[in-house]
Amino acid sequence: MNYRHAFHAGNFADVFKHAVLARILLYLGNKEAPFRVIDTHAGAGRYDLAGSAAARTNEWKDGIGRLLADPPEGETGELLAPYLSVVQSDPGHYPGSPLIALRLTRPQDRLVFCELHPEEHAALTVAVGHERRASIVEADGWTALKAALPPPERRGLVVIDPPFEDGGDFRRFEEGLQEGNRRWPSGTYFFWYPIKDAHEVERFVKRIARLGIPKILRAELTVGDLAMDRLASCGLLLVNPPWTLERELETIMPALARLLGNDGSARYRLDRLTV
Ligand SMILES: C[S@@+](CC[C@H](N)C(=O)[O-])C[C@H]1O[C@@H](n2cnc3c(N)ncnc32)[C@H](O)[C@@H]1O
Repeated sequence: MNYRHAFHAGNFADVFKHAVLARILLYLGNKEAPFRVIDTHAGAGRYDLAGSAAARTNEWKDGIGRLLADPPEGETGELLAPYLSVVQSDPGHYPGSPLIALRLTRPQDRLVFCELHPEEHAALTVAVGHERRASIVEADGWTALKAALPPPERRGLVVIDPPFEDGGDFRRFEEGLQEGNRRWPSGTYFFWYPIKDAHEVERFVKRIARLGIPKILRAELTVGDLAMDRLASCGLLLVNPPWTLERELETIMPALARLLGNDGSARYRLDRLTV
């Protein structure tokens, strides 16, 4: 377990991931009934953009740094406003998925955060603070996911954002989604993946499309060519997403490609794997 999210916090991939996360949470909050968020790989929760890890890569400058310097206007601005207001509420820091989820949920909602790395888990506990709505588990996220499903709430979101250190996370997601969908078919599943080997990702996506699970949306963002080992392309699989999300992404995705792209190769893809 060498992966530390602090080197990448606030980069283009985080902006894309968290902008979509925020839209799903807001949709879930439209109905009065409580919902649940289960974040299987939660990270440290809060990242210092002036800290040594962030300074080593400066990735955030080409991510959230660009949005804060030149906030999007019009419909994109409206759609991204809730996410940006969470970021702006803590200047000099970047919120991880747990803090974004805490800010965009209500008193009746419940949250489970799972983080295996002891130091990240300790940092997450501090970042979350005294929050009775949340439980923080120091355990393997894939195992914890099984234990957490089905929750008492009918609606909710499973956020799966693993580190992809050993190449096994694509297969683990495939298994986790099948099991999750059996146990909690009414839940929404959100899976982030890096695109380093486009052929491997394409094979993975085809396997997911053949599982027989309906309503799977794919969104991918590329900000440039893969250079110097730095990630330039990533995707989200969104299973059972809010019906409003595809239309929102039709606005958000081209705007993010424009704002976060580095050259003429910036692009996005948005399609339905299953209907
Ligand atoms: C990409 S980061 C998560 C970032 C976070 N979701 C966010 O958006 O702010 C992946 C995290 O998973 C943790 N991790 C690694 N293996 C894990 C496992 N098997 N179970 C749970 N967490 C794990 C890492 O320590 C790291 O903090």
